[in-house]
Amino acid sequence: MSAEIIYGSELAQKMRDEMKEEVTALKEKNIVPGLVVILIGEDPASMSYVKGKQKASDYVGVDSELITLPEKTTQEELLELIDQLNNKSSVNGILVQLPLPDHIYEQAIIEAISPEKDVDGFHPVNIGRMMTGKDTFYPCTPYGIIKILQSKSIEIEGKHAVIIGRSNIVGKPVGQLLLNENATVTYCHSRTKDMRSYIKNADILIVAVGREHFITGEDIKEGAIVIDVGVNRTSEGTLTGDVEFDSAKEIASYITPVPKGVGPMTITMLLHNTIKSAKKANN
Ligand code: GUN
Repeated sequence: MSAEIIYGSELAQKMRDEMKEEVTALKEKNIVPGLVVILIGEDPASMSYVKGKQKASDYVGVDSELITLPEKTTQEELLELIDQLNNKSSVNGILVQLPLPDHIYEQAIIEAISPEKDVDGFHPVNIGRMMTGKDTFYPCTPYGIIKILQSKSIEIEGKHAVIIGRSNIVGKPVGQLLLNENATVTYCHSRTKDMRSYIKNADILIVAVGREHFITGEDIKEGAIVIDVGVNRTSEGTLTGDVEFDSAKEIASYITPVPKGVGPMTITMLLHNTIKSAKKANN
């Protein structure tokens, strides 16, 4: 069996085209979705992500402003800026690019953003809403993964979903969204004993550990759906996922590649959340 490759990049493009039309219609009603992205310091990976967000916002017509601040910015200064943006009606979404420098307490920043402008879906209020199955801003990468599965009409209900990795950004929330869709969810992490036995039993396998070739074809169940969230730089400088694609593709029924898999959906869902926020604010 050779898996069908799911290109998140194609779904992302389709959704961005639809959003572009929606934003044009909103602008006729004088609603202009506004996003502010805050970047502290000069981490190269963060700078590259932020650039992608700006480009996609421009394409869709979201009014996106990038605020870059020096590494030495204090927590108080950042909190003050967030407070101003919380109170600015033209701003529908606020995103503070993570990770932050060590001297800034990340959770204080996440909790300072108004839940109504938290387009990352990281605020405890939004996490709570997600956990109780309510409509809210869902974290972008997990939400993008659900959209990828739905785009291929992959049934989630009753499936055994195994999540490798328990980060607040990907692992934990994607498990919750899959549970909301009635999957049976197992979380695996660095302290899991006999992890391979869980992986072998996964109908849907989500891999978000950040280690090249962490999963190979031998690890997975015949016909599994494999979603690779990893982004790793190889010694040759190219990007690769956490899954050894060539061997896994022969065993899986569906598989996402890296690049062009999950990555483009993250930014797409950020724009989706920003538009949703703008519509809500103008309702
Ligand atoms: N850093 C890596 N991924 C993300 C994300 O989805 N949101 C934010 N704010 N920072 C990130």
